[in-house]
Amino acid sequence: MNPLSLVRPCVAATEGYVPGEQPSDDQPVLKLNTNENPFAPPPVVMQALHDAINDTLRLYPEPTSRSVRQAAAAAFQLDADHVVVGNGSDDLLTMLMRTFIAPGDGVAAPDPSYTLYATLTRLQDGVFHAVPWQETLDLPIEPLLATGAKLMMIARPNAPTGHAVPLQQVSQLCTATSAIVVLDEAYADFADDNGLPLLSHHHNLVILRSFSKSLSLAGLRIGLGFLSAALAEQMHKVRDSYNLDRLAQVAAVAALQNLEQFQPAVQAIRTERHFLTLELRRRGFQVADSQANFVLATVPAGRRGGQEWCSDLKTLNILVRYFGHDPRLADKLRITVATHTEMLQLLAGIDRLLESN
Ligand SMILES: Cc1ncc(COP(=O)(O)O)c(C=O)c1O
Repeated sequence: MNPLSLVRPCVAATEGYVPGEQPSDDQPVLKLNTNENPFAPPPVVMQALHDAINDTLRLYPEPTSRSVRQAAAAAFQLDADHVVVGNGSDDLLTMLMRTFIAPGDGVAAPDPSYTLYATLTRLQDGVFHAVPWQETLDLPIEPLLATGAKLMMIARPNAPTGHAVPLQQVSQLCTATSAIVVLDEAYADFADDNGLPLLSHHHNLVILRSFSKSLSLAGLRIGLGFLSAALAEQMHKVRDSYNLDRLAQVAAVAALQNLEQFQPAVQAIRTERHFLTLELRRRGFQVADSQANFVLATVPAGRRGGQEWCSDLKTLNILVRYFGHDPRLADKLRITVATHTEMLQLLAGIDRLLESN
């Protein structure tokens, strides 16, 4: 028998998530395609990591990442029972699917959004409902409710649009549904506000945070989930037993105990976001205001479409993200906001291409 015939049909039928290109570290590229932070983590985190490289590495890590949950509880004024830790927030998304989605169950999300939601749903043999954002980019509350989904995923700020739906609409959805509403706040630290104050009002709300963006630790894979203690208990059952390694736990605690030290980098990125938005507009790109550490730019009319811009920038060693699979995004580029020097480098590359048009 062909071993491939044993693969679950839902897995065989799924393409799998394709992350942005990750070139080797020694390649001289300006990497603006996966929304990493251009600034190094503060020395206090580096030192904690350094100190943790010792004999204890032969031991398994604490399975529930207790120290991380306690540090998160202190940082965000929660109880540690309300925190689940993931190997990146992607791990928490997988855990949510495993906890709530049986074959045939529905997962809904406004569309376009983070494409991993659909991939994970299909791998779980669930049914994914892509519900178009309202024209105004408000939350499509009624259409989301009409799907009857068990899980509703809302990225806020959303990727790739960069907008943050009004919190009041999230609250309205939580009240109107008995489904689990997941507020994916991977980019929340770059936004003007966040959904944490809603948590105590809605038992069906789960909030996810990532250490990959504002906390400069994408390489260590750390995410947090905030939710009711009862739901957290269920999530722990589906968690990989030791899902966060020792070094990641140490770095996560150091980061959570020193959150104020990440603020200068976050502020710098917000400043550069404004600069980049204005400079791209000056060059004929349409750029909506963003609340995240990236902008979504519609390319100017001309012989280059989104794909050509992406590949021509790549010839200049500048990587940006292009979502060719979605016709609504065919003329758009998602560009990570980085340092001022890097933004000038990007703009110089764009000017070169515009001149050669
Ligand atoms: C909306 C959204 N959620 C979650 C993630 C994943 O974050 P992590 O690196 O914590 O797994 C990303 C990564 O790009 C994202 O864009």
